[in-house]
Amino acid sequence: MSATCQSTAGDSCYQLQGDRPNLYEQWWVPAIMGPCAEDLVDTVCLRPGEKLLDVACGTGVVARAAARRGGAQVSVTGTDINEAMIETAQRYVDLDGLPNIRWRVGDAASLPFKTSTFDVVLCQQGLQFMPSRLAALREMARVLVPGGRLVASVWKSGSPFGTALRKSLVDCFGPEALSDWGVSISLGDRHKLRALAKDAGFEGCHVRYDVKIGRHREPEEFICGVIAASSLSGEFASLSAKDREKLVQSIIENLKNYVDDGGLAYPAECHTLTAQTCETG
Ligand SMILES: C[S@@+](CC[C@H](N)C(=O)[O-])C[C@H]1O[C@@H](n2cnc3c(N)ncnc32)[C@H](O)[C@@H]1O
Repeated sequence: MSATCQSTAGDSCYQLQGDRPNLYEQWWVPAIMGPCAEDLVDTVCLRPGEKLLDVACGTGVVARAAARRGGAQVSVTGTDINEAMIETAQRYVDLDGLPNIRWRVGDAASLPFKTSTFDVVLCQQGLQFMPSRLAALREMARVLVPGGRLVASVWKSGSPFGTALRKSLVDCFGPEALSDWGVSISLGDRHKLRALAKDAGFEGCHVRYDVKIGRHREPEEFICGVIAASSLSGEFASLSAKDREKLVQSIIENLKNYVDDGGLAYPAECHTLTAQTCETG
């Protein structure tokens, strides 16, 4: 088993601290969030001179994709409530040599930007984690210029990977250890998502369904990595090597239908909301 199985202690599931933002970037980003970020940026069709905000930017995968795509002609800002995520985002931008990204720690329900600042707001897999989604969408509308574009994605349902992981972790640690794992799919109803955007003042609200594919060449390494990046990292690390191996093998067994010649390949159903603010402001 790889060294990634030695992980830091757990805390709140979706506020990654310590080394976990780095582990999120290391494991989730290449496997699925990175390719999804490219799709999100494709969807918004950036134009030269535009100002873009990535809300709930996490480690900055969408902001980086937008900055790469738009080059010096696009100004990119990323914001997230979690300072540790923003610090990691800054580190990866330095590594990528992408100078045109600014970062601000901030709650989406009270964005730290003036009204009508951005042409585009992107939010990848962030809305469902916010306690006040309507307030966050209202804030996204406020910081957009009249006629500004929003593209936001949320998972529609649990993926086979998430299901296999959850089942084995529940068997090992009990259901209470995973009580908040359902949050990532808590905004899967497209009618609810569309209605929220309309209530927030957006026009032309449209939800598109598609299926992303999560991939990793080494399923065992990937499983250890994502558990290390999760709230159960401490519990996992405290298992004996034999029990960790047993847990990982049980997950692999449940994923045997989700492999191809390149390794793990699992589908993840996604909803992407596109909307715009009123042209007349
Ligand atoms: C699953 S991560 C997605 C991160 C990034 N968008 C990506 O695609 O990798 C969810 C992010 O939402 C952020 N978040 C949760 N509630 C938030 C809030 N109220 N305001 C801003 N960010 C929030 C978390 O800190 C976390 O970084």
